[in-house]
Amino acid sequence: MFSPKVLFGLFTCVSLVSAVPTPQYASIAARQDANVSSCPGYAASNVVKTETSVTADLTLAGAACNAYGEDITNLKLLVEYQTDDRLHVNIYDADLNVFQVQEEAVPLPKNEKASSSDASLEFNLVEKPFSFTVKRKENGEVLFDTSSSQLIFETQYVRLQTRLPKNPHLYGFGEHTDPFHLPTDNYRRSLLNAESPNIPENSNLYGSHPVYFEHRGDKGTHGVFLRNSDPMNIFILRDSAGNQALEYDTIGGVLDFYFLAGKSPAEVSKQYADVVGYSAMFPYWTLGFHQCKYGYWDVNMVAEVVANYSTAGIPLEVMWTDIDYMNGRQDFTLDTERFPMKKMQELVTTLHQRGQRYVLILDPGTHATADLETYTRGHEQDVFLKAADGSDLLGVQWPGVVAWPDWFAPQTSDWWTDEFERFFNPETGVNLDGIWVDMNEASNFCSNPQCSPTPEGNPPAPGNAPRNNTGRPIPGFPVDFQPTNSKLKARDTSGEMKGLPNREWFNPKYTVYNHRGGLSDFTIQTNTTNYDGTKQYDTHNMYGHMMALTTRKAMLARRPELRPMVLTRSTFAGSGREVTHWFGDNHSDWEDYRTTIRQMLAFVAMHQMPMVGSDVCGFNGDTDEFLCARWALLGAFQPFYRNHAELSTIHQEFYQWPLVTEAAKKAIDTRYKLMDYIYTALYYQTKTGVPMINPLFYLYPNDANTFAIQEQWFYGDALLISPVTTDYSNQVTFYLPEDTFYDYWTGAPVEGKGANVTVNDVAWTDIPVHIRGGTIIPHRQNSASTTKELRKQDFTILVAPGKDGKASGRLYLDEGEKIEQPAVSEIQFSWDNGKFSATGSFAYGGMSGESVSVAKVKVLGQTKAGNMGTWDSSMNTVEVQGPWKLAGAWGFEF
Ligand code: NOJ
Repeated sequence: MFSPKVLFGLFTCVSLVSAVPTPQYASIAARQDANVSSCPGYAASNVVKTETSVTADLTLAGAACNAYGEDITNLKLLVEYQTDDRLHVNIYDADLNVFQVQEEAVPLPKNEKASSSDASLEFNLVEKPFSFTVKRKENGEVLFDTSSSQLIFETQYVRLQTRLPKNPHLYGFGEHTDPFHLPTDNYRRSLLNAESPNIPENSNLYGSHPVYFEHRGDKGTHGVFLRNSDPMNIFILRDSAGNQALEYDTIGGVLDFYFLAGKSPAEVSKQYADVVGYSAMFPYWTLGFHQCKYGYWDVNMVAEVVANYSTAGIPLEVMWTDIDYMNGRQDFTLDTERFPMKKMQELVTTLHQRGQRYVLILDPGTHATADLETYTRGHEQDVFLKAADGSDLLGVQWPGVVAWPDWFAPQTSDWWTDEFERFFNPETGVNLDGIWVDMNEASNFCSNPQCSPTPEGNPPAPGNAPRNNTGRPIPGFPVDFQPTNSKLKARDTSGEMKGLPNREWFNPKYTVYNHRGGLSDFTIQTNTTNYDGTKQYDTHNMYGHMMALTTRKAMLARRPELRPMVLTRSTFAGSGREVTHWFGDNHSDWEDYRTTIRQMLAFVAMHQMPMVGSDVCGFNGDTDEFLCARWALLGAFQPFYRNHAELSTIHQEFYQWPLVTEAAKKAIDTRYKLMDYIYTALYYQTKTGVPMINPLFYLYPNDANTFAIQEQWFYGDALLISPVTTDYSNQVTFYLPEDTFYDYWTGAPVEGKGANVTVNDVAWTDIPVHIRGGTIIPHRQNSASTTKELRKQDFTILVAPGKDGKASGRLYLDEGEKIEQPAVSEIQFSWDNGKFSATGSFAYGGMSGESVSVAKVKVLGQTKAGNMGTWDSSMNTVEVQGPWKLAGAWGFEF
């Protein structure tokens, strides 16, 4: 609880500006507010308002409190009405010394200079003590109000609070495993990227997305993005009187906010895409099924898994190889005994001939040894982060002692691209289709700042693999290695320092919670200077993001015409613009099976990263037949669908158990028939920001029962997926909003009553799926063993009329892989009480052998045959036979 002095201090502060009672928040574990009571806040002066902006000077309003750093006396306020629906508010230091996120990491959105009178949001400020509000004009809803606590802006601590309505509906602030609908009582979320084995609960994970969405039912949804990459704690607080607030506590950076007006949830998603970027478009094949395992110890075993899938009759689109392929786990090398180049080339050629794809992994830590040309070339080009004495900064990763590429250095991108050219050259190297970048938080096996070297190396040699890279000694740490062929002097870092100097880099007084320990533990030292003069302290959360962006460039340089597929473990706001993500090292248990749903909902809808998914059947620990069967079905309705497991686990390929084989066949068959439907949804997310996966409240924003649902989702906007989520159960209770639905598997109408429905006998090979009335879904008539074959199948168009007898849907067609698409089709389907039409643009003609024809239209919920259809009276469906070529508008009337 606050001390009386603190309470008095707070009361005095806010009583000047507001009659609203001061929230007095209960102290929660790890909330550090002991030093803030005497902080004076700021006073605004020189307030200048124009039609499109507001500026002001902010000056410390009393004696410095120096709570967790030194108070910065002079700040500036910049407010821009950037668009009618977006307000930018930046509070930064007048001297511009405090770190601001680089534009090369997160480009700035365009300021369209909207007029404040037309804008949907209104900004107001109170001069002393300084606070501000953001209001939705239309209904007077105050969306943000910082008056509950004084602003603190110090060298190593920045705090801002905003009042919240009671029991707010908040989402976002990934990456975490917390509830999708964030807890509203004394909740803490820290954003600090960290390697996270078993994705621990209530913890910071691999990525940071400082954005939240708040949903207020029919009063609208809005979003708030803080463009700040410094480690931070975020709290959702409730005081004893029930007043609620959200608090940001960062250890640096500026308060660079973007307020997104909505007012529908999907509009907030779109407006967030306007700020951080619209998602990249991924190749069609990436929606196929992927198989991986850490521990496929030679190329024969990789080939055997591919063959086993064929034999079992389970379609496999993409085969992956983990670090097993590397020589001593060094990037851009092959273990010549177990993965000889010739065999690898044969493997890839064979996969490609079969219409399949191949993906390999890379890690950022580059083995610091003169034996590795990738390293010596990198060292000569000065691409690595530097220690204080100018030598390459060293850490420990899979290969042993490693140097860390500095992704902010332009030469690093050239070096990385060149390494790609050498190793992935289709003629002389491995002709891969996509790339996976891992361990890029960055993970350092050596806990900084002090490593405790052991004679065996730190950590012990990763030699527990069956037939691992045996016999290779892992060097100890630290090493006295100095490259002998260095031509360059250490990088000159005497230039301009970006970000405040002389901070406590390792243990700032204010602690951001990190499940790995301190700020620099198990990662790159936070006092390290980047090429551009910024410090890892400020940019740590963007290390993986920058690596992923650089990797995409390298892929593009090698295959300039093709959409790159880059999968990254570590992410930051805006990563989705170029790359995608899987949820890391989950555990093969039911909790993590459930967790994957809420992680997907947040990433697709709130972080603009649509192509996401988890390690299907679980990564760590042994899975089992029942869990794996359920997960095979659940994963088929997530955008990225990859089975992956850890080195020491049993094999969990879908063919390992009869039940899983059956479940996976059904799952993949269904997923593939729906491939064009979901590809269309992905395409529209990349163009409009409207998510391809919808949380229930996105489609039923006024139904309060949907706000907290985190175990169901809409795949696209038509298919409601309600998997069994109880451990080893055949029972599921799911919510059906008040609407018309149809059972996807039988076509039978199901009237949603805005209530829960329980099904007791969901087979292990089944998953409840419902079609939302009012939608039209394009299907391929048959599934196939690869997506290439799939594209040869004709379409069936499934119409699911709503209560009003109407329905609509769409289909996007293109060639599937190229960045520039010379001819695409964007087709709208419409059904209106017996009248069907397909209109739009029809430029895509199909590559050789592909079908762009509709074989039939099937309409659900029909009580009689039309004059041209065949009526199935038992199912109440009418089928109208085609064919119709998707080459121009067509239609029919019953
Ligand atoms: C950690 C990754 O999260 C995991 O997927 C991978 O198998 C291992 N690193 C080995 O590369």
